[in-house]
Amino acid sequence: MILVAGGTGTLGTHIVRALTAQRTQVRVLTRRAERASHLAGTGAEIVVGDVRDPAAVEKALAGTSAVVSAVQGFAGTEPAGPRAVDLGGNANLIRAARAAGTRQFVLISAAGAAPDSPLDLRRVKYQAEQAVIGSGLQWTILRPTVYLETWISLLGDMLATKGAVTLFGRGTNPINFVSAYDVAALVERVTATEFAAAAEFTSATLEIGGPEDLTLADLAGRVLAERGAGGPIRHVPLPVLRAMATLLRPVKPMIATLARFGVIMDTTDMTLPRDTARAAVPGLPATTLADLQAGAAATDLHRT
Ligand SMILES: NC(=O)c1ccc[n+]([C@@H]2O[C@H](COP(=O)([O-])OP(=O)(O)OC[C@H]3O[C@@H](n4cnc5c(N)ncnc54)[C@H](OP(=O)(O)O)[C@@H]3O)[C@@H](O)[C@H]2O)c1
Repeated sequence: MILVAGGTGTLGTHIVRALTAQRTQVRVLTRRAERASHLAGTGAEIVVGDVRDPAAVEKALAGTSAVVSAVQGFAGTEPAGPRAVDLGGNANLIRAARAAGTRQFVLISAAGAAPDSPLDLRRVKYQAEQAVIGSGLQWTILRPTVYLETWISLLGDMLATKGAVTLFGRGTNPINFVSAYDVAALVERVTATEFAAAAEFTSATLEIGGPEDLTLADLAGRVLAERGAGGPIRHVPLPVLRAMATLLRPVKPMIATLARFGVIMDTTDMTLPRDTARAAVPGLPATTLADLQAGAAATDLHRT
């Protein structure tokens, strides 16, 4: 039995589908049962609980051989933000896994996780990685680039609600996007019995990206074109974004975080020089934006 914490999310949904397709028994931890309604039919067991609640986590881990942590508090503000969820929640999962005798821990981190990152989430991810590394469990850390599905959905929602797309910054920086489908395929391989004990996956931190670097302006243009929407793409200028990231921190921390992320996506190297996951695991799918647009269902994940 594998526990997928965050099994209702964009990546988690693909992980649950990939694992159950291999007849692996899966348990999903979610804060609200209805968030897992789209997983009916996969055969996954659904347990309700919050990763911030040690008792709920202990119950969820009983009888498991592995745990995959795909939770995040990125868009939340504390006490539901990165510190509480990505750090506190993962600490609870680690503690409970050790107590339950769970063998393997797979942590979904993020490309760019570093102790000195300007982005809070990346610093917190790095700290969570350190906790997993010191846990005594058999661990694998995966650091994906940015998910195509997340951005297709974000831009599509913007278009649906505002009738236009507004990008944070110039939108001209090349960014490596990976499909959550590909990352889920990697999780499936890493947890598969024949691989779980393999040296290249234990005590390994693997970076995974996709086959394409795209600018946000490219991506937005292609999302608009697919939906038959013309119209200009608007931009929040970088100086305004920088001011938002600082000035809004005390009053609107969520918007300040998004503005800071926008600055980083627009001005720092967002490509992936070495895809260590694809080097270690041959044969992973390499899903492109065109692939996702051709199979519309894949871009329209859970909506509850
Ligand atoms: N999106 C990206 O571009 C990207 C890029 C690199 C890495 N990542 C990492 O990949 C992982 C998955 O990201 P995602 O974008 O697929 O996430 P997502 O769609 O935003 O879903 C977040 C998941 O976290 C769960 N969650 C949040 N707070 C929780 C809590 N207090 N207790 C229990 N569950 C909680 C949610 O479950 P319920 O709402 O059902 O409770 C949901 O399943 C995360 O670790 C993220 O940091 C994401």
